Amino acid sequence: MDQQLTQLRTDALAEIAAAADEAAVEAARIKYLGRSGGLTAISEGMKSLSKDDKPRIGKLLNETRNAVTAALDERKAALAANADAAAFAGIDATLPGIAPHTGSLHPITQLQDRAIQIFRRMGFALADGPDIETEWHCFDALNTPADHPARNEQDTFYMPDGRLLRTHTSTIQIRTMEKCAPPIRIIAPGAAYRRDEVDATHLAQFNQMEGLYVAAGVSVADLKGTLEFFFRELFGPDAQFRFRPHFFPFTEPSFEVDIKTRALGSSDRWLEIAGCGMVDPAVFESINAQRGDTAFDPEKFTGFAFGFGLDRLAMIMSGTPDIRAFTENDQRFLAQF
Ligand code: PHE
Repeated sequence: MDQQLTQLRTDALAEIAAAADEAAVEAARIKYLGRSGGLTAISEGMKSLSKDDKPRIGKLLNETRNAVTAALDERKAALAANADAAAFAGIDATLPGIAPHTGSLHPITQLQDRAIQIFRRMGFALADGPDIETEWHCFDALNTPADHPARNEQDTFYMPDGRLLRTHTSTIQIRTMEKCAPPIRIIAPGAAYRRDEVDATHLAQFNQMEGLYVAAGVSVADLKGTLEFFFRELFGPDAQFRFRPHFFPFTEPSFEVDIKTRALGSSDRWLEIAGCGMVDPAVFESINAQRGDTAFDPEKFTGFAFGFGLDRLAMIMSGTPDIRAFTENDQRFLAQF
């Protein structure tokens, strides 16, 4: 029995030392220490030993089990350490890490945020309103009755209940005046919709930023100063402006604003960038009628309003030839901003 145990120990240690992976270590454990393993078989034989031999063989049996167990543990730990070392072998821990891809805000959102910041500095508050509007907020209140030709130019999408997708964010000016009394100084960014054929310069949904300033004594000079300051902040101090007479049903007089600036690569070409004008007293009257008071008394208050398209602005600023690029969400395009 002595010899059997010594042999088992030698065999087991050799086999464990040669085990190439965890499965092989486990196989050796089962083979030598398992319930039907070599050591169990030998210990069964203990019963037939003489009283003199029992303690000695028992001790040897224990020593053998301990030695084999220790060898198994040691081999397992060594294999695990090797695996770690192999995993780290190709890695230079002194190299700088690889930054995860974080993405960025959409170029239109970036432009909108910049525009809001500039108007904030001039005391304009941010106002909001629903995309689905009543005809009254979109047209009637803005001095554009049902038979007005301007409605054709701004044809839109109608809901079965007669509401519509707003054609401009002027609706937010109306909603603000319904709730607040002068002085009012707000900007109204948001989506606008028109039933336009989608092409390189038109989208059925686009983004606008409009503004309204109503107080005592607001003049065309304030309108010009505000817009020129805004666009110079955006494009640089070299920007030149031209206010061309125009027509909008809700402003009188009305203008379109043209700009010339190196920032837009147009130092010798005028680009149209905004519409604006002095709020038509008829708009104040319809607000008063709706409110049932005279908060917007046209004899006391005047105001200016303006609006421009953020997509169109982003298009000129970035030299993007096709406005659809801003809605296609092509990563190769967006990653450039
Ligand atoms: N609402 C006009 C448009 O969508 C822009 C505008 C706003 C013009 C305010 C004048 C005054 O085209």
